[in-house]
Amino acid sequence: MITKDMIKHTWRAKVNFIKVNNYDELSCKAAAMICAQVVLKPNSVLGLATGSSPLGTYEKIVEKCEKGEVDFSKVSSINLDEYVGLDGSNDQSYRYFMNTNLFTKINIDVAKTNVPNGCATDLQKECEAYDALIEQSGGIDLQLLGIGLDGHIGFNEPDSYFEKATHVVELDPSTIEANARFFASEADVPRKAVTMGMGGIMSAKKVLLIANGKNKKEIIEKAFFGPITPEVPASILQLHPDLTVIYSEN
Ligand code: GLP
Repeated sequence: MITKDMIKHTWRAKVNFIKVNNYDELSCKAAAMICAQVVLKPNSVLGLATGSSPLGTYEKIVEKCEKGEVDFSKVSSINLDEYVGLDGSNDQSYRYFMNTNLFTKINIDVAKTNVPNGCATDLQKECEAYDALIEQSGGIDLQLLGIGLDGHIGFNEPDSYFEKATHVVELDPSTIEANARFFASEADVPRKAVTMGMGGIMSAKKVLLIANGKNKKEIIEKAFFGPITPEVPASILQLHPDLTVIYSEN
Protein backbone atom coordinates (compact mmCIF):
# COMPACT_ATOMS: atom_id res chain seq x y z
CA MET A 1 0.00 0.00 0.00
CA ILE A 2 1.50 3.38 -1.01
CA THR A 3 0.44 6.12 1.40
CA LYS A 4 0.53 9.90 1.00
CA ASP A 5 3.50 10.32 3.36
CA MET A 6 5.63 7.79 1.52
CA ILE A 7 5.54 9.81 -1.67
CA LYS A 8 5.86 13.30 -0.22
CA HIS A 9 9.49 13.75 -1.14
CA THR A 10 9.78 11.38 -4.06
CA TRP A 11 11.44 12.17 -7.35
CA ARG A 12 9.02 13.25 -10.06
CA ALA A 13 9.42 12.76 -13.76
CA LYS A 14 8.70 15.62 -16.12
CA VAL A 15 5.16 15.53 -17.52
CA ASN A 16 5.13 15.92 -21.28
CA PHE A 17 2.08 18.18 -21.35
CA ILE A 18 0.68 19.03 -24.78
CA LYS A 19 -2.11 21.59 -24.98
CA VAL A 20 -3.97 21.48 -28.28
CA ASN A 21 -6.68 23.67 -29.77
CA ASN A 22 -9.52 21.24 -30.22
CA TYR A 23 -10.73 17.67 -29.88
CA ASP A 24 -9.86 16.79 -33.46
CA GLU A 25 -6.23 17.79 -32.94
CA LEU A 26 -6.17 15.84 -29.69
CA SER A 27 -7.54 12.73 -31.41
CA CYS A 28 -5.08 13.03 -34.33
CA LYS A 29 -2.10 13.33 -31.99
CA ALA A 30 -3.19 10.46 -29.76
CA ALA A 31 -3.91 8.19 -32.74
CA ALA A 32 -0.54 9.09 -34.26
CA MET A 33 1.24 8.11 -31.04
CA ILE A 34 -0.60 4.80 -30.79
CA CYS A 35 -0.06 3.95 -34.46
CA ALA A 36 3.63 4.90 -34.24
CA GLN A 37 3.92 2.46 -31.35
CA VAL A 38 2.38 -0.31 -33.48
CA VAL A 39 4.53 0.50 -36.52
CA LEU A 40 7.70 0.42 -34.41
CA LYS A 41 6.65 -2.73 -32.55
CA PRO A 42 4.02 -4.70 -34.51
CA ASN A 43 3.31 -7.08 -31.61
CA SER A 44 2.71 -4.25 -29.12
CA VAL A 45 0.55 -4.77 -26.07
CA LEU A 46 -1.78 -1.79 -25.93
CA GLY A 47 -3.57 -0.77 -22.75
CA LEU A 48 -6.90 0.67 -23.88
CA ALA A 49 -9.56 2.85 -22.31
CA THR A 50 -13.25 3.62 -22.68
CA GLY A 51 -15.30 6.78 -22.07
CA SER A 52 -16.07 9.56 -24.52
CA SER A 53 -12.51 10.96 -24.62
CA PRO A 54 -10.93 8.14 -26.71
CA LEU A 55 -13.76 7.95 -29.27
CA GLY A 56 -12.07 10.41 -31.66
CA THR A 57 -8.73 8.66 -31.22
CA TYR A 58 -10.32 5.33 -32.13
CA GLU A 59 -11.95 6.88 -35.21
CA LYS A 60 -8.57 8.18 -36.40
CA ILE A 61 -6.96 4.79 -35.78
CA VAL A 62 -9.68 3.13 -37.87
CA GLU A 63 -9.00 5.63 -40.68
CA LYS A 64 -5.27 4.91 -40.60
CA CYS A 65 -5.93 1.18 -40.59
CA GLU A 66 -8.30 1.47 -43.55
CA LYS A 67 -5.65 3.40 -45.48
CA GLY A 68 -3.20 0.58 -44.77
CA GLU A 69 -0.89 2.86 -42.78
CA VAL A 70 -0.85 0.53 -39.80
CA ASP A 71 -1.34 -3.18 -39.21
CA PHE A 72 -2.93 -4.41 -35.97
CA SER A 73 -2.80 -8.12 -36.81
CA LYS A 74 -0.05 -8.87 -34.27
CA VAL A 75 -1.26 -6.44 -31.59
CA SER A 76 -2.83 -7.56 -28.34
CA SER A 77 -4.76 -5.33 -25.97
CA ILE A 78 -5.63 -5.16 -22.31
CA ASN A 79 -8.47 -2.87 -21.29
CA LEU A 80 -8.62 -1.00 -18.04
CA ASP A 81 -11.97 -1.84 -16.59
CA GLU A 82 -15.50 -3.22 -16.81
CA TYR A 83 -18.76 -2.74 -14.94
CA VAL A 84 -19.71 -5.55 -12.57
CA GLY A 85 -22.81 -7.36 -13.80
CA LEU A 86 -22.70 -6.30 -17.46
CA ASP A 87 -21.67 -8.89 -20.02
CA GLY A 88 -20.27 -8.23 -23.46
CA SER A 89 -23.68 -8.33 -25.13
CA ASN A 90 -24.91 -5.41 -23.00
CA ASP A 91 -24.50 -2.23 -25.00
CA GLN A 92 -23.32 -0.35 -21.91
CA SER A 93 -20.51 -2.80 -21.17
CA TYR A 94 -16.98 -1.76 -21.94
CA ARG A 95 -16.43 -4.97 -23.95
CA TYR A 96 -19.31 -3.92 -26.20
CA PHE A 97 -17.87 -0.39 -26.44
CA MET A 98 -14.47 -1.68 -27.52
CA ASN A 99 -15.87 -4.17 -30.03
CA THR A 100 -18.14 -1.54 -31.57
CA ASN A 101 -15.79 1.43 -31.62
CA LEU A 102 -12.52 -0.25 -32.42
CA PHE A 103 -11.98 -4.00 -32.49
CA THR A 104 -14.46 -4.88 -35.25
CA LYS A 105 -13.25 -1.95 -37.36
CA ILE A 106 -9.53 -2.75 -37.47
CA ASN A 107 -7.61 -5.92 -38.28
CA ILE A 108 -6.88 -6.83 -34.65
CA ASP A 109 -7.43 -10.47 -33.66
CA VAL A 110 -10.38 -10.18 -31.22
CA ALA A 111 -9.09 -13.28 -29.41
CA LYS A 112 -6.07 -11.21 -28.41
CA THR A 113 -8.17 -8.41 -26.89
CA ASN A 114 -8.82 -8.49 -23.17
CA VAL A 115 -11.44 -6.74 -21.05
CA PRO A 116 -12.08 -7.79 -17.43
CA ASN A 117 -15.07 -10.08 -17.05
CA GLY A 118 -17.52 -8.16 -14.87
CA CYS A 119 -19.81 -11.20 -14.73
CA ALA A 120 -17.24 -13.68 -13.37
CA THR A 121 -18.71 -15.77 -10.57
CA ASP A 122 -15.54 -15.30 -8.55
CA LEU A 123 -14.53 -11.68 -9.06
CA GLN A 124 -11.49 -11.93 -6.80
CA LYS A 125 -10.12 -14.75 -8.97
CA GLU A 126 -10.89 -12.71 -12.08
CA CYS A 127 -8.84 -9.81 -10.64
CA GLU A 128 -5.88 -12.07 -9.86
CA ALA A 129 -6.06 -13.67 -13.31
CA TYR A 130 -6.10 -10.21 -14.88
CA ASP A 131 -2.89 -9.19 -13.10
CA ALA A 132 -1.29 -12.48 -14.15
CA LEU A 133 -2.34 -11.76 -17.73
CA ILE A 134 -0.69 -8.31 -17.62
CA GLU A 135 2.51 -9.89 -16.32
CA GLN A 136 2.48 -12.76 -18.81
CA SER A 137 1.94 -10.33 -21.69
CA GLY A 138 5.40 -8.98 -20.97
CA GLY A 139 3.90 -5.69 -19.81
CA ILE A 140 1.84 -3.02 -21.50
CA ASP A 141 3.84 -1.05 -24.09
CA LEU A 142 1.52 1.94 -24.23
CA GLN A 143 -1.37 2.64 -21.88
CA LEU A 144 -4.08 5.01 -23.07
CA LEU A 145 -6.07 6.74 -20.31
CA GLY A 146 -8.91 9.19 -19.89
CA ILE A 147 -9.58 10.93 -16.58
CA GLY A 148 -12.75 11.20 -14.52
CA LEU A 149 -13.89 14.52 -13.05
CA ASP A 150 -12.77 13.31 -9.63
CA GLY A 151 -9.35 12.33 -10.98
CA HIS A 152 -10.05 8.62 -11.40
CA ILE A 153 -8.13 6.60 -13.98
CA GLY A 154 -9.64 3.31 -15.06
CA PHE A 155 -12.04 3.12 -12.12
CA ASN A 156 -9.42 3.86 -9.45
CA GLU A 157 -11.49 6.23 -7.35
CA PRO A 158 -10.15 8.78 -4.82
CA ASP A 159 -9.06 7.01 -1.65
CA SER A 160 -6.58 7.25 1.21
CA TYR A 161 -4.09 5.00 -0.61
CA PHE A 162 -3.23 3.87 -4.13
CA GLU A 163 -4.48 0.32 -4.81
CA LYS A 164 -1.85 -1.66 -6.69
CA ALA A 165 -3.72 -4.76 -7.89
CA THR A 166 -6.71 -5.22 -10.15
CA HIS A 167 -9.70 -4.96 -7.82
CA VAL A 168 -13.43 -4.53 -7.46
CA VAL A 169 -14.37 -0.96 -6.68
CA GLU A 170 -17.51 0.79 -5.43
CA LEU A 171 -18.10 3.68 -7.80
CA ASP A 172 -18.21 7.19 -6.37
CA PRO A 173 -21.60 8.94 -6.50
CA SER A 174 -19.97 11.59 -8.74
CA THR A 175 -18.79 8.91 -11.20
CA ILE A 176 -22.24 7.29 -11.24
CA GLU A 177 -23.75 10.70 -11.95
CA ALA A 178 -21.19 11.49 -14.68
CA ASN A 179 -21.63 8.11 -16.40
CA ALA A 180 -25.45 8.18 -16.14
CA ARG A 181 -25.50 10.01 -19.50
CA PHE A 182 -24.81 6.68 -21.22
CA PHE A 183 -27.65 4.82 -19.46
CA ALA A 184 -31.44 5.16 -19.55
CA SER A 185 -31.36 6.50 -15.98
CA GLU A 186 -28.91 6.98 -13.12
CA ALA A 187 -30.48 4.00 -11.36
CA ASP A 188 -29.28 1.76 -14.21
CA VAL A 189 -25.59 2.62 -13.72
CA PRO A 190 -23.85 -0.34 -12.07
CA ARG A 191 -22.56 0.50 -8.58
CA LYS A 192 -19.42 -1.59 -8.89
CA ALA A 193 -16.67 -2.20 -11.43
CA VAL A 194 -13.52 -4.26 -11.89
CA THR A 195 -10.52 -2.05 -12.56
CA MET A 196 -6.87 -2.52 -13.28
CA GLY A 197 -4.98 -1.15 -10.28
CA MET A 198 -2.20 1.42 -10.18
CA GLY A 199 0.43 -1.34 -10.40
CA GLY A 200 -0.74 -2.41 -13.85
CA ILE A 201 -1.06 1.17 -15.07
CA MET A 202 2.27 2.37 -13.68
CA SER A 203 4.14 -0.65 -15.04
CA ALA A 204 3.23 0.32 -18.62
CA LYS A 205 6.28 1.47 -20.57
CA LYS A 206 4.53 4.58 -21.88
CA VAL A 207 1.39 6.31 -20.64
CA LEU A 208 -0.79 8.61 -22.74
CA LEU A 209 -3.61 10.46 -20.99
CA ILE A 210 -6.12 12.42 -23.02
CA ALA A 211 -8.70 14.90 -21.73
CA ASN A 212 -10.88 17.53 -23.28
CA GLY A 213 -13.39 20.13 -22.17
CA LYS A 214 -13.41 23.09 -19.77
CA ASN A 215 -14.93 20.83 -17.12
CA LYS A 216 -11.70 18.79 -17.02
CA LYS A 217 -9.43 21.85 -16.59
CA GLU A 218 -9.51 21.90 -12.80
CA ILE A 219 -8.81 18.19 -12.38
CA ILE A 220 -6.00 18.33 -14.97
CA GLU A 221 -4.34 21.13 -12.99
CA LYS A 222 -4.72 19.20 -9.74
CA ALA A 223 -3.53 15.91 -11.19
CA PHE A 224 -0.46 17.09 -13.06
CA PHE A 225 0.53 20.36 -11.43
CA GLY A 226 -0.53 19.68 -7.84
CA PRO A 227 0.62 17.34 -5.09
CA ILE A 228 0.72 13.59 -5.61
CA THR A 229 -2.08 12.19 -3.52
CA PRO A 230 -4.43 9.19 -3.67
CA GLU A 231 -7.26 11.69 -3.25
CA VAL A 232 -6.47 12.61 -6.87
CA PRO A 233 -5.68 9.15 -8.28
CA ALA A 234 -4.25 10.37 -11.62
CA SER A 235 -1.60 12.39 -9.74
CA ILE A 236 0.42 9.18 -9.29
CA LEU A 237 1.22 9.44 -13.00
CA GLN A 238 3.61 12.30 -12.16
CA LEU A 239 5.93 9.51 -11.01
CA HIS A 240 5.79 7.74 -14.38
CA PRO A 241 9.00 8.16 -16.40
CA ASP A 242 7.24 8.35 -19.79
CA LEU A 243 3.96 10.23 -19.45
CA THR A 244 2.31 12.33 -22.13
CA VAL A 245 -0.84 14.31 -21.39
CA ILE A 246 -2.79 15.80 -24.29
CA TYR A 247 -5.42 18.33 -23.26
CA SER A 248 -7.83 20.46 -25.20
CA GLU A 249 -10.03 22.99 -23.41
CA ASN A 250 -12.52 22.90 -26.29
C1 GLP B 1 -15.10 6.16 -17.05
C2 GLP B 1 -13.95 5.22 -17.36
C3 GLP B 1 -12.61 5.92 -17.34
C4 GLP B 1 -12.70 7.21 -18.13
C5 GLP B 1 -13.72 8.10 -17.49
C6 GLP B 1 -13.83 9.46 -18.15
O1 GLP B 1 -15.36 6.29 -15.71
N1 GLP B 1 -13.89 4.12 -16.46
O2 GLP B 1 -11.62 5.06 -17.86
O3 GLP B 1 -11.45 7.83 -18.19
O4 GLP B 1 -14.97 7.43 -17.59
O5 GLP B 1 -14.71 9.40 -19.21
P1 GLP B 1 -14.93 10.50 -20.29
O6 GLP B 1 -13.79 10.37 -21.23
O7 GLP B 1 -16.23 10.13 -20.92
O8 GLP B 1 -14.95 11.81 -19.60
